[in-house]
Amino acid sequence: MKNNKKMMALLNQVLQQEYLEVFTYLKEAELFRKKLSGGENLGQIFENFSQEELRHVDRISAKLIELGERPSWSFRNVEIPDSIHEALKAHILQERKIYGIYTDIIENCTDADFKIVLKGIREQEKEHLEKAAHILRKLGG
Ligand SMILES: [Fe+2]
Ligand SMILES: [Fe+2]
Repeated sequence: MKNNKKMMALLNQVLQQEYLEVFTYLKEAELFRKKLSGGENLGQIFENFSQEELRHVDRISAKLIELGERPSWSFRNVEIPDSIHEALKAHILQERKIYGIYTDIIENCTDADFKIVLKGIREQEKEHLEKAAHILRKLGG
């Protein structure tokens, strides 16, 4: 992979975002269950998204190890807004950001196999983004 330094910086950046996503979805699942009647379904969907984000963490971490890096995340308590609307709005911005970082990584990636993996991940981010936007619309946001 050419331009390893830039690639590693991008992969490290996206890893931080992915971890943030893992915990954000879990917090939102909790929020749905607490505040929404019938929030169980949405809670389950977001827990599944959290699992998908965790798989992205795995995939990106494996690549960083392959490139000789030690993947790390400084654990902190992820806070989300107490309002479902505000939480979803913030989350949509997060997903947009991560989608953009993957687009950058894909453009810089010279490894054809990994590029396919990255495109698959980016597609899932798009689904997350669309689902969050859809829920927000349904809730009148
Ligand atoms: Fe992700
Ligand atoms: Fe996502």
